[in-house]
Amino acid sequence: MGKDTLTITDNRTGKTYELEIKDGTIRSLDLRQIKVSKEDFGLMGYDPAFTNTASCRSQVTFIDGAKGILMYRGYPIEQLAEQSSFLETAYLLIYGELPNGEQLDEWEGNLKHHTFIHENIRKLLGGFRYDAHPMGMLVSMLGALSTFYPKSKRIRDPEIRKEQFYRLIAKTPTLAAFSFRHTRGLPMIYPDNDLSYAGNFLNMLWKMSEAKYEPNPVLEKALDVLFILHGDHEQNCSANAMRSVGSSEADPYCAAAAAAAALYGPLHGGANEQVLRMLVEIGSIKNVPGYVKRVKEGELLLMGFGHRVYKNYDPRAQIIKGIADQVFEVTGRNPLLDIALELERIALQDDYFVKRKLYPNVDFYSGLIYQAMGFPVEMYPVLFAIGRMPGWIGQWVEMLDDKEQKIARPRQIYTGYQKRDYLALDKRVPVADKAAVATQAPT
Ligand code: CMC
Repeated sequence: MGKDTLTITDNRTGKTYELEIKDGTIRSLDLRQIKVSKEDFGLMGYDPAFTNTASCRSQVTFIDGAKGILMYRGYPIEQLAEQSSFLETAYLLIYGELPNGEQLDEWEGNLKHHTFIHENIRKLLGGFRYDAHPMGMLVSMLGALSTFYPKSKRIRDPEIRKEQFYRLIAKTPTLAAFSFRHTRGLPMIYPDNDLSYAGNFLNMLWKMSEAKYEPNPVLEKALDVLFILHGDHEQNCSANAMRSVGSSEADPYCAAAAAAAALYGPLHGGANEQVLRMLVEIGSIKNVPGYVKRVKEGELLLMGFGHRVYKNYDPRAQIIKGIADQVFEVTGRNPLLDIALELERIALQDDYFVKRKLYPNVDFYSGLIYQAMGFPVEMYPVLFAIGRMPGWIGQWVEMLDDKEQKIARPRQIYTGYQKRDYLALDKRVPVADKAAVATQAPT
């Protein structure tokens, strides 16, 4: 076995450098010593979208994309989905260990204590249009919580931090359910703390005139497992947003609002909504081959397929397929399932998808379950956000406690104009398309 170093020869100067390799990684900052002259800034790595850059050391979640392995704090997702509960998993993600009985009771008790939201938040919600997207409302309400809990800015105080964990995890379903009821013009249903986390969420969504809402135990359990599956996914777009905003020492509500905003996009947590819209657009099994052809011609993406990390299968998608069967036994089979199954069948044997290692991801089947449970498509990313909240918190805490972390501040390669003199108004040429001109700027 050779040395754990990398030898680089800079052909511009003929100089050789030896960089340390640790955990299969070189430190990008070590590249800065590689210069052509004293004034040279030094070599940087160029990695748009961070496809090959580790931004942190983390102990929260492990993924082996090639083997389809996902573990939270070392526990395989399959075991957590089968044996744990969402709140227990949330504790694990944040504190690093499964709670004992006493810790779990305390954790659940504190979370129940924080499910209600300030009445002014409810009033704030009333300002949204009837057709506002619930994810847009959730992002805004999470940000708004920052103004209700100004102490949360003391991010280094462990007791104050803990209060924000409770509030973020306990209030997110309330905000989500209130957003949904707002779009329907329905009166708000306040939390019922006799119910489980998922059961209470269903209560706040669906309760009408009955004295006590009784959640269906199969649907309650299915939702709880879906939350577990969405708990964390290491350094994805929203976790990165949580860490990046948090690194400026913004309070956790602002950071969580940023993370939720990142999740909203159709390439991330918004994909489950797009999958359903796609299946509805396809409409019938006979239209599947034509749709796949359009995908292969680059006209469309097959939503719910592909993943930056998983290049074999997404273990969450496999668990979800099992949950779907249980849910459909209660709700009846979702008619779109046949289209989804046919799409998967054709895609998995087609060279285009095989070559690119495109498999169904977590969002491919979750939308079908949510639809069968009665959720409108706009709520799907919101459900994702409820599940992901403990992961965002776990990532945020780890970032704050990591002595190597600083405010996130990537470098750039400047490709714009060099210095030029200010042009008087009468000397300027009309610009037809500002964006086009900006991208044509000489380097
Ligand atoms: N349908 C068709 N082609 C695809 C798809 C897709 N869903 N995903 C990737 N490709 C193609 C892509 O066009 C590219 O082809 P080529 O090499 O010919 O240019 C190749 O596969 C590699 O794709 P990429 O865009 O470089 O991969 P990425 O790692 O940057 O993107 C992704 C990952 C998830 C954004 C992407 O696969 C995608 O847009 N999928 C659809 C949206 C989706 O389902 N997102 C949910 C992700 S899972 C939930 C979460 O964690 O957020």
